[in-house]
Amino acid sequence: IRTQVGIIGAGPAGLFLSELLHRQGIDSVILESRTREEIEGTIRAGVLEQWTVDLMHQLGVGERMTRDGHFHTGITLRFKGQSHHLDMVELTGGKKVTVYPQHEVIKDLVAHRLAQGAQIHFGVRDTRLHNVETERPSITFARADGTPAVLECDFIAGCDGFHGPSRQAIPATQRQEFQKIYPYGWLGILTEAPPSHHELIYARHDRGFALLSTRSPEIQRLYIQCDPKDDIAQWSDARIWSELHQRLETTDGWKLTEGPIIQKGIIAMRSFVCETMRHGRLFLAGDAAHIVPPTGAKGLNLAVADVLVLSRALEKFYARNDSSGIDSYAATCLARIWKGERFSWYMTTMLHTDEAAGAFEHRIREADLEYVVSSRAAATALAENYVGLPI
Ligand code: FAD
Ligand code: DHB
Repeated sequence: IRTQVGIIGAGPAGLFLSELLHRQGIDSVILESRTREEIEGTIRAGVLEQWTVDLMHQLGVGERMTRDGHFHTGITLRFKGQSHHLDMVELTGGKKVTVYPQHEVIKDLVAHRLAQGAQIHFGVRDTRLHNVETERPSITFARADGTPAVLECDFIAGCDGFHGPSRQAIPATQRQEFQKIYPYGWLGILTEAPPSHHELIYARHDRGFALLSTRSPEIQRLYIQCDPKDDIAQWSDARIWSELHQRLETTDGWKLTEGPIIQKGIIAMRSFVCETMRHGRLFLAGDAAHIVPPTGAKGLNLAVADVLVLSRALEKFYARNDSSGIDSYAATCLARIWKGERFSWYMTTMLHTDEAAGAFEHRIREADLEYVVSSRAAATALAENYVGLPI
């Protein structure tokens, strides 16, 4: 098989890239190790930044989002049993909070690309990158039925997430990486219950962080801070609800609505940046290059931002034989990525409890929250990051 851009991974990064390139008349082929059913059914992120929403409309994939998404004017911060509303629309000059699940974004993009005749190979195995330092890189893989195949291309986009092979194709001695591991985990559930509140609630409590989000009028998404090494078997439904009630409920009588828990799981948290986002003709984008803890709702949006920059760089290359965009790809992305890393670290630190950090830091985190809800300047700073910095 021959194409212009070989894309590894059909997550948000790979699918948005393929769509953006198609609009510029650039051909791509996507290789994905999981099945279509798996990628369309994996529950992950939920919040889209305003410009991501606008981009989906521009690309003609915003119809279901308009119908099924949830558009909130703000978020609620909760601590010491009290609620504080942050009005994002007012603080940012009109930008909203959109809750539209990642797997729905994936479904919309896959359907759109396939309808345009795109090649997406699902269920591939043994994906290997070759000759990325030359002008003729290639990817070898085994098709779902086991037959070996080669994808020859001008460029490779490594959109294969944190554990994919693309980053590893850059020699370790040439990779500049930064990492922070947090002592927090998130236990996430889906429950068949009506919404308890009209917007997201981020709660700090002495027992740990809790987050109320939504998926549909019938299904709600909730998270609680736990030990990242916890076994999900130790978390009975009754224990999960008990923690959620204690951490989320207010002194003025707001109550959480329960329902049957239909899915539960634990994720660990890290911050990670590989600054070497380009190596020869290989580009890393999204989780392949960087990870954030989920508290700031930034992961998916950062992935889309990378491929927007990459699509513009490749357009310059193909339309005008101009390599300047390619050469500045990493620097352009990193300037914004580090701000996303900072915001995710800030939200995570401020909202989680860490006994090892000690009583002084506990008070500082509370003071940080008090400051955000009492200062318009501080609230504006949080809001403009939450709805998405300029791209
Ligand atoms: P991914 O979505 O990871 O896509 C990479 C794709 O590459 C995958 O489909 C994978 O199957 C494929 N792939 C991997 N290896 C190969 C290979 N060898 N060959 C071919 N294909 C390969 N962010 C938030 O903001 N909020 C959240 O609540 C949140 N929850 C999360 C929960 C979990 C369990 C995880 C893992 C992530 C979560 N994130 C969350 C982060 C967010 O989902 C990611 O930032 C986002 O998916 C990044 O998109 P991506 O396209 O870069 O990578
Ligand atoms: C969701 C996830 C987040 O990380 C967040 O900050 C807000 C909402 C969610 O899955 O709905």
